[in-house]
Amino acid sequence: MSDRPESYVAAIDQGTTTTRCLVFDSRGHVVASDSRDHRQILPRPGWVEHDATEIWAKVQAVAAGALARAGLRPDRLSALGITNQRETTVLWDRSTGRPVHNAVVWQDTRTAALCAELGGAYGQDRFREATGLPLAPYFSGPKAAWLLDHVPGLRRRAENGEIAFGTIDSWLVWNLTGGTDGGIHVTDVTNASRTLLMNLDTLDWDPAILAAMNIPEAVLPEIRSSAEVYGTATGRLAGVPVAAALGDQQAALFGQTRFGTGEAKNTYGAGSFLLMNTGTRPVPSKRGLVTTVGYRLGTDRPAYCLEGSIAITGALVHWLRDQLGLIRSVDEIEPLAASVPDNGGAYVVPAFSGLFAPYWRSDARGVITGLTGFVTKAHLARAVLEATSWQTREVVDAMHEDSGVRIDSLRVDGGMTVNKLLMQHQADVLGVPVIRPVVAETTSLGAAYAAGLATGVWDGLDTLRAQWERDAEWTPRMTEPVRERGYRRWKMAVERSFGWLD
Ligand code: G3P
Repeated sequence: MSDRPESYVAAIDQGTTTTRCLVFDSRGHVVASDSRDHRQILPRPGWVEHDATEIWAKVQAVAAGALARAGLRPDRLSALGITNQRETTVLWDRSTGRPVHNAVVWQDTRTAALCAELGGAYGQDRFREATGLPLAPYFSGPKAAWLLDHVPGLRRRAENGEIAFGTIDSWLVWNLTGGTDGGIHVTDVTNASRTLLMNLDTLDWDPAILAAMNIPEAVLPEIRSSAEVYGTATGRLAGVPVAAALGDQQAALFGQTRFGTGEAKNTYGAGSFLLMNTGTRPVPSKRGLVTTVGYRLGTDRPAYCLEGSIAITGALVHWLRDQLGLIRSVDEIEPLAASVPDNGGAYVVPAFSGLFAPYWRSDARGVITGLTGFVTKAHLARAVLEATSWQTREVVDAMHEDSGVRIDSLRVDGGMTVNKLLMQHQADVLGVPVIRPVVAETTSLGAAYAAGLATGVWDGLDTLRAQWERDAEWTPRMTEPVRERGYRRWKMAVERSFGWLD
């Protein structure tokens, strides 16, 4: 046994519905955690907002809560890493520290018309070569442009340098490092790669796109790597180096130690996000995926990814519970779905905010197809779970066509991976094994790993790779004819979801 005191690293995971703080030891095991939900503000159909001040308060509360449960004072933390819901956009007043409007959340579709207008004759792929992204309401740039146009007097104040723009990582680093009292205004390269404003080759803001979207340079944070000491925390975490920031999906890739080219992971949360590491050069997508930055450690070359973003997966189970009342808790869906041998012919396409990858259709809306009098709520429960695995199959196929790499197994994480029926169906429809790690909190783990690398807690990627441990594996059982018949039906159902927007 070494006499060296144990090193601890904390991670803040600021997600769409929940804010968490986890404390890890040097083996990457969870020592303590705390979490709090925040309000979902839904002012109109398709609009989703968060109160950024409430989010900051929840971050402080969970950090204090996790430290108390761990029995640690802040000076025992070697570093703090941040991971966050991506694309969600905050504009705040630099002198008061107050947001000028609620944050516009990634799921919000208010900028659909603005995106169509910006695409104009060039279409949806106008900025794809520069940014790796289609012009879609999902990304931050159009959300910032909308706020600058709709909050009275904001554009003038922004041009005068009074206003700061940031994704949630920026907002948190600024507040953690002092806010109005010297807070640092930075963003990490993975979050910046989701704004539609960053050039993927230069890793800097793209002047032509800023001009096209009419975003003043004075609002922008400095783009930094994902793992470096940005500054030192004040307040409850006083003295702790703030040493990493990554978008949550990139953090999960990092926590799953997918450091090699061709290695992939899928995270099942409210939506699902499948990322494949494509190495040090961006791979353009022709099949509706997005090209994004996976991580950048200090001054190393960045690792790029292809990503299949699926807007609604776990959120469909919540809808079944909260809006339809077919189940009372999310745990009930598995036994209900398992009470029937198949979906009875029913398919549910959860296009609640249009469809993301590989379609990028803002005009899509949810549909249930294949109904007969035979279909029961158990069949519907099964179809709800299968919607997740079929959507994943679509992005895996696109990934194969874009990258030439065939995924031979899929590492998975996120809340839905406790559902064994879903995991089996996922392995069945992909035709490859699905593997879950022991530490399910891969998003937080990834942020902690990046922060610990920046501060010398871990000495390199090989050490992290050696800490990864398998918990469970599902191997495919479905015959090919059954699988391909189901997939054809799924695609027929998707076709029926198009064209519902006036
Ligand atoms: O791109 C959106 C994604 O980052 C949201 O993730 O886990 O907060 O739903 P989550």
